[in-house]
Amino acid sequence: MVQRNGAAQREMPVDLRSDTVTRPTDAMRAAMAEAAVGDDVFGEDPNVNALQERAAEITGKEAAIYTPSGSMANLLAMLTQCAPGDTVLLSEDAHIFTFETGSIARIANVMTKTVPGEYGAMTPEAVAQRLVLGENDHISRTTLVAMENTTNRGGGAIYPHEAFKGVAEVARENGLRVHCDGARIFNAVVETGISAAEYARHVDTLSFCFSKGLGAPIGSVLTGDSATIRRARRFRKMLGGGMRQAGVAASAALYALEHHVERLREDHKRARSFREALTDTPSLSFPMPSPTNMVYVRVPDTEAFIARLREQGVLVMAPVANTIRVVFHLDVDDAGLERAIDAFKTAAGELAA
Ligand SMILES: Cc1ncc(COP(=O)(O)O)c(C=O)c1O
Repeated sequence: MVQRNGAAQREMPVDLRSDTVTRPTDAMRAAMAEAAVGDDVFGEDPNVNALQERAAEITGKEAAIYTPSGSMANLLAMLTQCAPGDTVLLSEDAHIFTFETGSIARIANVMTKTVPGEYGAMTPEAVAQRLVLGENDHISRTTLVAMENTTNRGGGAIYPHEAFKGVAEVARENGLRVHCDGARIFNAVVETGISAAEYARHVDTLSFCFSKGLGAPIGSVLTGDSATIRRARRFRKMLGGGMRQAGVAASAALYALEHHVERLREDHKRARSFREALTDTPSLSFPMPSPTNMVYVRVPDTEAFIARLREQGVLVMAPVANTIRVVFHLDVDDAGLERAIDAFKTAAGELAA
């Protein structure tokens, strides 16, 4: 029998593990229930088509393709813009490099060369130093540079705009393509006032996710020029990403674009309040700034700390060794924020070395 939303979900913990854990709101569910659908593999789903048009419009690109996940959107960027054996330059902290199961090596057959940098951002100089170009038969040519904005492992850092433009310029001057993994690009947009189209203008392809801060249950998009997106459709089908009546999900993404972008500021505000409330707690430290919806916290004993939080109904995880990541999102309100602060204070007090 279908499990319905209701009593079972009322006593929910404060889930700060990721902004991917959000559940569709009642209004979003209503939009999904009412969505007209068609077969998207035939290009006939009206909501998928509307979503793709809207995504292209927001980013100022010619076209867009809806994908089941951000990982697939990133992989499509590699498959469409690199030949097997080419090299992709990206940050050593890039999600594409660290958290996508090596798919760009296994499936797109590209080599990666990582670039060090602060909070997941590369400098134009560091990128320029690592380019391998030319017709020499021995080399793997660099053909694509990938940036991430905001950066997940960089604490939700916003790419400094000068660096973002500078990296793209170095790449383009050398005839390379540029991809932006913009899984959380709207977190950067609301914080900086720089539009998605301005970010996208500097890159050939930009992906973003509906299933993170925007609060939709499924899906991402890859935007770019028409020829690249046309090729991406073939690769998406090859990967098993042709989703038939996907309008049920795409309607949630359309709803999210209309109603959940501006509210990302609330997540950023709660992240700042959380950090401020804990700043003077002796056993806690903060290894990086928290400009958007994430706070990374160093704690005395990660495993014991996470377990103690869980006992208090607060869920977190430690994607980086010895460091807990706390992510604010649509399903965390002020009461949740207060519960999280109290739980951290209790655990810090009990587990202080
Ligand atoms: C920066 C970044 N890019 C891409 C992804 C991949 O998205 P998905 O989980 O939908 O594959 C994530 C997921 O957390 C992410 O944080």
